[in-house]
Amino acid sequence: MSSEGISAASASTIAREVKRRRTFAIISHPDAGKSTMTEALALHARMISEAGAVHGKGGRRSTVSDWMEMEKARGISVSSTALQFNYTPTGPDGREPVSDDEPNVINLVDTPGHSDFSEDTYRVLTAVDAAVMLIDAAKGLEPQTLKLFQVCRHRGIPVITVINKWDRPGRSPLELIDEITERIGLIPTPLYVPVGIAGDYRGLLDRRTGDFVKFTRTAGGSTIAPETVLSPAEALASEGDAWTAAVEESELLGEMGQDHDQEMFLAGQTSPMIFTSAMLNFGVRQLLEALVEFAPAPAGRTGIDDVERAVTDPFSAVVFKVQAGMDSSHRDRLAYMRIVSGEFERGMVVTHAQTGKPFATKYAQAVFGRDRSTVDTAYPGDVVGLVNAMALAPGDTLFTDPKVQYPPIPSFAPEHFSALRVTTADKYKQFRKAIDQLDAEGVVQVLRNDLRGDASPVLAAVGPMQFEVVTARMKTEFNVDTVIEPLGYSLARRTDEASAPELARQRGVEVFHRSDGAILALFSDKWRLQFIEKEFPSLTLAPLVAAAD
Ligand code: G4P
Repeated sequence: MSSEGISAASASTIAREVKRRRTFAIISHPDAGKSTMTEALALHARMISEAGAVHGKGGRRSTVSDWMEMEKARGISVSSTALQFNYTPTGPDGREPVSDDEPNVINLVDTPGHSDFSEDTYRVLTAVDAAVMLIDAAKGLEPQTLKLFQVCRHRGIPVITVINKWDRPGRSPLELIDEITERIGLIPTPLYVPVGIAGDYRGLLDRRTGDFVKFTRTAGGSTIAPETVLSPAEALASEGDAWTAAVEESELLGEMGQDHDQEMFLAGQTSPMIFTSAMLNFGVRQLLEALVEFAPAPAGRTGIDDVERAVTDPFSAVVFKVQAGMDSSHRDRLAYMRIVSGEFERGMVVTHAQTGKPFATKYAQAVFGRDRSTVDTAYPGDVVGLVNAMALAPGDTLFTDPKVQYPPIPSFAPEHFSALRVTTADKYKQFRKAIDQLDAEGVVQVLRNDLRGDASPVLAAVGPMQFEVVTARMKTEFNVDTVIEPLGYSLARRTDEASAPELARQRGVEVFHRSDGAILALFSDKWRLQFIEKEFPSLTLAPLVAAAD
């Protein structure tokens, strides 16, 4: 029994739960098919019986995290959400379970689609153990995919590559493999080779068995596509040249050494590759199975005191996202935590490492889009939303004794700077409250100096759309009208008390305090920065952490 009177699960129960869990995110450029794939995965996990519930043609794009009007209008996802489903590996026809074991528990953590929210995405990626890099077969690597891939590489997150939209004309498998190898130095190791070129997707050559997995289209791709397994001889008879081409490609890949190697995958050197059509539900089962087979199960982490917390140790979790205003009917604040160790039981009282204060977890929820359900028990790898989490900020640790505190999540180097001014004269108090809340949530970074005073703080963001979130939320949640006034700065450096006075005297430079205590100097452009660095070599001017560092 813990001090709160809650029975602790035995280490063996926790170990078993951890073993069957996989927690991952999909990284992609907008439009590559992330929502469609999320839905296809849910379909395969029998969570939904027909595609179209999460995302579909026209107006059916409804239940995916559309909590803000702005988000709806733009059709982008601002918030992060987590989808949990059970998956039992199934037979090749997609019908019969092949194993009587307990199902796997898959946690899919959603990432914001727009590059302006890359800071949120970065935080989400601290909460996953693997990533699926989803690529449009016709477009290849796109800027947002590249950026997110660099974050995965930086954090040592293994990546499974999915070439999507294979039902449409696109590049050849070898062209795509070459592009990935050459541009990002990741070696794709296809688990399957598609039979039929992009636009004529018939099935997959399973490189491990040599068999042909043939897909059958279903009406509108709304249900799981039936699979038939054919021997190589049968495949040749049925598919002719398309089969021969796939066999040759597979052999060529083998000669080049592009076969799956678990160690190299976990080291981030190679990436199992799968060809899919999320729209037709082709290759989706293969993706789920690759996740279960290859993606790592949740692991323990090391605290700032260098002490390792194993998954079977007492409860600990990291907050990776704080969000408010999901439900306009009751204004609340939701903190998402990823469980690192131990068993979580709703109602347990945990300690907030940053303040040392107790935190009651009476209202723990699983959240996906607008749908919430109460979570009673959760294990390492799971994502739990905590309601009314006013004191929690991204990067914070929650634990039960013994104490642990995980390293903070580094913030992105901001590139956009604007002054925020309140236009309703009598709302100053509300304004201050709102800005403090948005700051704590990590919606933007808030910078202040004596010259500007508290009435007009400077907001620093990775993307300008973060500013729009601030003004929209100021209005809807706090009833405060604000205007954004862009400032002529384009980059920031971290400095210190000793260097600040000299910097403040320079033209094209302004010095600010950030709420986490950092002192930042903003520069109009990189030439100004270079000039000052040359003139005053003794000043402290350190680059801020960027995603790809
Ligand atoms: P995103 O979340 O990554 O932004 O992409 P999303 O799933 O919204 O897909 C973007 C578009 O690509 C959608 O078409 C979707 O139907 C289509 N798509 C996704 N996967 C596939 C696939 O495997 N094959 C083909 N052919 N298309 C795919 P849309 O016309 O923009 O929207 P909708 O009207 O179809 O919903």
